[in-house]
Amino acid sequence: MENITGYSAVAERLKGSDILKVANRLRDMIAQGQRVCNLSVGDFSPKEFQIPQTLKKLIIESYQNNETNYPPSYGTVELRKSVQDFYKRKFGLEYELDEIQITSGSRPVTHAFYSCTLDSNHTLLYPVPSWNNDLYAVLTQAKEICLLTKPENGFHPIREEIEPHIEKANVLALCSPSNPTGTMFTEKAIRGICELVLQENERRKGKQKPLYVLFDSVYWMLTFGKYTHYNPVVLYPDLKNYVVIVDGISKCFAATGVRVGWGLGPKHLISKMTHVIAHAGAWAPRAEQIAVSKYLYLDDDISQYITTLKSDIENRLNKLYQIMLNLSKKGHPVHAIEPQGAMYLSVQFNLFGKKTPEGTVLQSNNQIAEYLLEHAKLGIVPFQAFGYPEENGWFRLSVGAVGVQDIEWLCKELEKAIEKLHN
Ligand SMILES: Cc1ncc(COP(=O)(O)O)c(C=O)c1O
Repeated sequence: MENITGYSAVAERLKGSDILKVANRLRDMIAQGQRVCNLSVGDFSPKEFQIPQTLKKLIIESYQNNETNYPPSYGTVELRKSVQDFYKRKFGLEYELDEIQITSGSRPVTHAFYSCTLDSNHTLLYPVPSWNNDLYAVLTQAKEICLLTKPENGFHPIREEIEPHIEKANVLALCSPSNPTGTMFTEKAIRGICELVLQENERRKGKQKPLYVLFDSVYWMLTFGKYTHYNPVVLYPDLKNYVVIVDGISKCFAATGVRVGWGLGPKHLISKMTHVIAHAGAWAPRAEQIAVSKYLYLDDDISQYITTLKSDIENRLNKLYQIMLNLSKKGHPVHAIEPQGAMYLSVQFNLFGKKTPEGTVLQSNNQIAEYLLEHAKLGIVPFQAFGYPEENGWFRLSVGAVGVQDIEWLCKELEKAIEKLHN
């Protein structure tokens, strides 16, 4: 039948976030007075995690100083200078001011980057599971190649998996530490991919459009134990011509609602992205920009804040990880990947073929999620919400909205729920 809705093809194809569907179910259960363990949202609950006190004061001060009019579309000079200095201090990277774009959180950097690099006859190459690349592919109407990653590689792509597709790609999307997996690229893996990108761009020189890379590093300060964050441009400075780095305060300063992000990349591309940001009105509020510009210089304050934030997140992730290890030791089909970074744990509940007390045989990730929600009051998100096609029981568990006592409570509920299942 003819499309009589009047919607564009993009609007017809674009769907809401599957993550929010789980979150809404949990909200209803809470409203009915049920206790739940909400490991579904990639957000920080301010009850558990607050933004840095100093940053809060600086934001209030900016409003008191009436910093309330439009900021420039590329961001205030103060914040671009501050990001420039921050990247020099933290990474030794040198970016000019016109190679830095400030946005309302980091999402608009990604959106503007894709809008400026992908047409409908272009190809976006991205690993799955990954955050929102499937939705951005719909928005740009680009063709997509999804790389199915493996748990043994921490669900990150490796050079050998990318290589067969590289000639077709216009953009390669990478993210570390990763949402949804909480895992990080090893140095070897990221080096392999960087070398491939450089080699491919050398081959294309003067003949074909370059291959651009979106490197989403919004969780870069949240790394645990022996795991190190590697930035492609630090490892291979020549990549600066092809890489846009995505970053911001949402995750590392638990400031998801404050909305300040930035991108760093080649000047010609950033200037195109600025137009998209301007037309979308996706600049960060001026007062927040002024505040963040001052805050990024306060290394001691930042370092103290990050130490506490990391230890609070890691403590929760480790508790969850131990619960999964214990279930596995007891012979239950549960596996987890050690926490490496971000605020997520990858867990496999391989409960396929098990019969619930109601008589249902579990056959899909959604049925497993539904069972754990009903019987363990546990809210988790299947990897399918991140573009992963396989029904093999992998889920994202996020700790941003839970206290330690919620996790301790979950421990018993989860074990009881799994023990109620029959072969
Ligand atoms: C990997 C990744 N990049 C970007 C974002 C978007 O962050 P922001 O809230 O700053 O737009 C998220 C949010 O969940 C994310 O997980």
